[in-house]
Amino acid sequence: MGIMLFCAILGYGGYLVLNQRIALDGASFLGYLGLFYMIINPAKTLSTSFSNMQKGTAAIGRIEEVLKAPVVVDENINGKQIDAFAGKIEFKNVGFKYEDVEILKNINLTVEKGKTVALVGSSGAGKSTLADLVPRFHDVSSGELLIDGINIKDYSLHSLRNLLSIVTQEPILFNDTIANNIALGMRDAKLSEIEDAAKIANAHNFIIQKEDGYQSNIGDRGSKLSGGERQRLTIARAVLKNPPILILDEATSSLDTESERLVQDAINNLMSNRTSIVIAHRLSTIRHADEIVVLQNGEIVERGTHDSLIAQNGFYKKLVDMQEVR
Ligand SMILES: Nc1ncnc2c1ncn2[C@@H]1O[C@H](COP(=O)(O)OP(=O)(O)OP(=O)(O)O)[C@@H](O)[C@H]1O
Ligand SMILES: [Mg+2]
Repeated sequence: MGIMLFCAILGYGGYLVLNQRIALDGASFLGYLGLFYMIINPAKTLSTSFSNMQKGTAAIGRIEEVLKAPVVVDENINGKQIDAFAGKIEFKNVGFKYEDVEILKNINLTVEKGKTVALVGSSGAGKSTLADLVPRFHDVSSGELLIDGINIKDYSLHSLRNLLSIVTQEPILFNDTIANNIALGMRDAKLSEIEDAAKIANAHNFIIQKEDGYQSNIGDRGSKLSGGERQRLTIARAVLKNPPILILDEATSSLDTESERLVQDAINNLMSNRTSIVIAHRLSTIRHADEIVVLQNGEIVERGTHDSLIAQNGFYKKLVDMQEVR
């Protein structure tokens, strides 16, 4: 439009000046045209800046939504530091609600140091919700959750979370390199340590096949990886952190049988001498747990070792029979 306007002024103005219809000489007219030409670009910038401002306001709105999101779990500023896990994790009459819906009720559970407790139950029973209470992703609605006899709300959140590693049901990954994703939260991890952790998690082989190896970017939430690869990265992260308490929520659910066996071996190694809470649908992976807790609709309906639960001939036995684990 700028150029068309310029041509029109040049044509019509030139016609007027050349035919001396107006009191303007040729030189002034050229000067006038020069000035007009110079103004076209700034005028264009001005109009695009309006649309940029619109984009900016929209973006700021979305960022503010995140920044102003309410903090549901309060950090206890004067909280105690917990540097080592000494005794046990205790759930005392724990209940949990999402808004008004009761998800967990009357949970009484003790996880002794060095023991493995498995949570089983149908989908939606509240297993992940129960496990998420330990790192305080949510706070209990009633009852108490104690570690070494002290309510976890009295600990500093940072030191509490330092004690645990979680392999979540949905891998939490960031748009960054593989190495950085494995080393999340461990600022001074060396590449050799990251590689060792990846080897244990059976991830090293697929990583070195990527074009940039450990420096490959994995896309938003790890979208450039397969489900099993994502899962192995989060297992490697847990291996690298090497914490006293482990929470594994369906850690091997996206792996094929062969990799599952390899990763399960690695996980078993990782779990020895450690306190773990394991959630699994595939019951063969948890049959050696020290205690198996069966949840149904947010309540514990059965508990005991594999053999004692089989002997009880209840819900667990039914699940086992369906999976033909003998
Ligand atoms: N953010 C949320 N808001 C409201 N309800 C939720 C929320 N997250 C989970 N729930 C509900 O809480 C219940 C328990 O969910 P949870 O994720 O603990 O189940 P789960 O036992 O881990 O199941 P699965 O085996 O499928 O992973 C479900 O009924 C679910 O619909
Ligand atoms: Mg779950």
